[in-house]
Amino acid sequence: MNLDAGVAKKILGSAYKNYRDALCKAIESEEPYLNRINRYVLSNEGKELRPILSLFMGMACGTLNNISYCCAAATEMLHTATLMHDDVADNATMRRFSPTVGAKFSPAAAVLTGDFWLSRALGLIIENCEKPTLSLFTKTILDISQGELLQMDKAYSANTTEEDYNRIIYCKTAVLFKAAMLSGAYSVGAEELFCKAAADYSIKLGMAFQIRDDILDYSSNMNTGKDFGSDLKERKITLPLLGAMANSPKDEESIREKIREIEELPNGADSAGGGKTERVIAEIFEFVLSNKGIEYAQQRLEKYCIEAAEALAPLPSSDAKNYLVGFAEYVGKRNV
Ligand code: IPE
Ligand code: IPE
Ligand code: MG
Ligand code: MG
Repeated sequence: MNLDAGVAKKILGSAYKNYRDALCKAIESEEPYLNRINRYVLSNEGKELRPILSLFMGMACGTLNNISYCCAAATEMLHTATLMHDDVADNATMRRFSPTVGAKFSPAAAVLTGDFWLSRALGLIIENCEKPTLSLFTKTILDISQGELLQMDKAYSANTTEEDYNRIIYCKTAVLFKAAMLSGAYSVGAEELFCKAAADYSIKLGMAFQIRDDILDYSSNMNTGKDFGSDLKERKITLPLLGAMANSPKDEESIREKIREIEELPNGADSAGGGKTERVIAEIFEFVLSNKGIEYAQQRLEKYCIEAAEALAPLPSSDAKNYLVGFAEYVGKRNV
């Protein structure tokens, strides 16, 4: 099955439009400055993977309805809010091939607009859904903020282990995939076995999705529309680097010492310059590539993709299920 987002939207037909209408309505406001920022955010659309997956999971488990569209909308709103916050936390300048809200307006405007999207997302859930869905989304926000803070703490000390890394990506990314798809399953009244399949699939997929993102951050030849190499500039130790250290254990402590020398570089700054931080970053890049850190991470994520597809076994055959199986394959190879 073709995983082009346009194709997914075509398969979803009016369901896609209904989700989109729910989202646009939920962020309506009478504040002119907020509306200006919101128009900017909406004009730089992302891939909308989480709402699309939410709708497909709903279709795979039952019949979509108004609650399904609200869950899909809340998912994308929560995602958009966390990106606005994340870009402030990461000092990011580019997102979706355009300046971040923080760079275009101000970091404070990005934080406050993120708060607005977050509260409107929860409002949408409170008005339309049952308590389990509300608990799911509330817990997701809690996990994302804790995951981002744990990552920040570990970046400071540069002592991230694989166990820490797994917890960070579970909290900051996988739980939102779970909220998207489990709420999609709940929205159609799916039986327990199907809900469990949705939860298992989405967590595995979310872990794989973030590992692929972390690989792309090391891939200068891919244009993702985001700052390249920003993880190292922020002293974030992700799986490609952990993999290189596992493949070359004798160098581990010296690499961690080098990371501690990295001083904050503005994102978008050229790390090929002559400064000390730039030299250290270039050395660590070389270490990751020559010790097969990318291959290590890619292997791990492919395992997650296989396990994700297997988790769907209890669901009855359908086009929606086929799409979800194919999606797990796409995550392993995606370049944007
Ligand atoms: C970016 O997610 C954040 C991560 C979890 C890596 P996406 O790659 O889905 O972002 P958009 O919405 O398409 O821009
Ligand atoms: C992704 O974090 C998860 C959240 C946004 C909470 P990253 O910092 O790895 O994602 P990008 O690379 O900025 O999209
Ligand atoms: Mg970021
Ligand atoms: Mg981040």
